[in-house]
Amino acid sequence: MKTSVVTGGASGIGLELVKLLIEDNYKVFIVDNNSENLKKLEKLLNPKYFVGIKEDMSSLSSPKKIYRKLKDENIEVLINNAGFGDYGKFYKTDWEKEEKMINLHVVNTTHLTKLFLKDMVKKNNGKIMNISSVAAFQPGPLMSLYYATKAYILHFTEAIANEVKDKNICISALCPGQTKTNFQKNVSSKQNKIMFNVSCPVKVARYGYRALKANETISIPGNFNKFLVFLNRLLPRLLVTKIVRYIQEKNRN
Ligand SMILES: NC(=O)c1ccc[n+]([C@@H]2O[C@H](COP(=O)([O-])OP(=O)(O)OC[C@H]3O[C@@H](n4cnc5c(N)ncnc54)[C@H](OP(=O)(O)O)[C@@H]3O)[C@@H](O)[C@H]2O)c1
Repeated sequence: MKTSVVTGGASGIGLELVKLLIEDNYKVFIVDNNSENLKKLEKLLNPKYFVGIKEDMSSLSSPKKIYRKLKDENIEVLINNAGFGDYGKFYKTDWEKEEKMINLHVVNTTHLTKLFLKDMVKKNNGKIMNISSVAAFQPGPLMSLYYATKAYILHFTEAIANEVKDKNICISALCPGQTKTNFQKNVSSKQNKIMFNVSCPVKVARYGYRALKANETISIPGNFNKFLVFLNRLLPRLLVTKIVRYIQEKNRN
C-alpha cells in the first residue's frame, strides 16, 4: 500500500484530503493535536487505511519526531495542512498564540517539507501539498500574522516546486477562500458575520487534490476567489489593504 502523511487531518479540509487519499489506496498517517477528533476517526475511517498520531505540530521538536517515526514508511505524499487563525490588532494580540502560529505555519511546515523532500528526491518520487490561503495574496490588517504566514507558505511552495520541476515530484499550494470548518471558531471569540462565498471542505479538498495530481503549483478553488486574487494585480496595494481592513472589521465587529 502507498503511504502518506496529513497534518491537521482529524477535521475540516485535512480530513477530506485524508478521505481522498484513502480512496486512492493510500495508508494515511494523520498527525493532529486534537485527541478527541482523532478518536472519532476510528468510527469514520477503515482502520486498515489510517494511523492517528497525536502531536502538537507547533512544537519545534515535532517535525523530527514525526520524520523519525515515519522515515521507513516510504512516504509518497506529505500534506502540511494543520493551521489556525487569530484576529485583532497586532499590538494587542497574544504572542504565545502567534509564536505557535509562526512555528506551525512557517518553521515546521518548512522543516517537515525538508525532511521528507530529501527522501523524495533520492527516490525521484513524491508529492507535497502545503495549505496556504487566498489570504496569501495581500496584507491582512487585523489578521496580520495569519495573512503573512500564508504568504510565506505560498512563496516557499512556489520556489521549491520550481527547484524540483525536472523530477518526478509535484509540489502544490492549495489556497482556499472561506470554508465551512472549525477554523473560524478558533480565530476569535467574536463570531464571523460575512457568510458570502463560503465553500465546503469536500469541494476544496477535491480541487486541491486534483491540482496536486495534475502537478499544478498553485490551486485556488472557486471562481470568485480566483477573481479576488486577480483583482490584486489591478488595484493599488494600499487600496487592497484598506479593503481587507474594512472587510475584517465588518466580519467581526
Ligand atoms: N476554513 C477556512 O476558511 C480556511 C481558508 C483558507 C485556508 N484555510 C487553511 O486550511 C487548513 C485547514 O484548516 P480547516 O479550515 O480545515 O480548519 P479545522 O477544521 O480547524 O482543521 C484544522 C485541524 O488542524 C489541527 N491543528 C491545529 N493546530 C495544530 C497543531 N499545532 N498541531 C497539530 N494539529 C493542529 C486542528 O486541531 P484543533 O481542533 O485542536 O484545532 C484541526 O484538527 C489550515 O491551514 C487553514 O489555515 C482554511
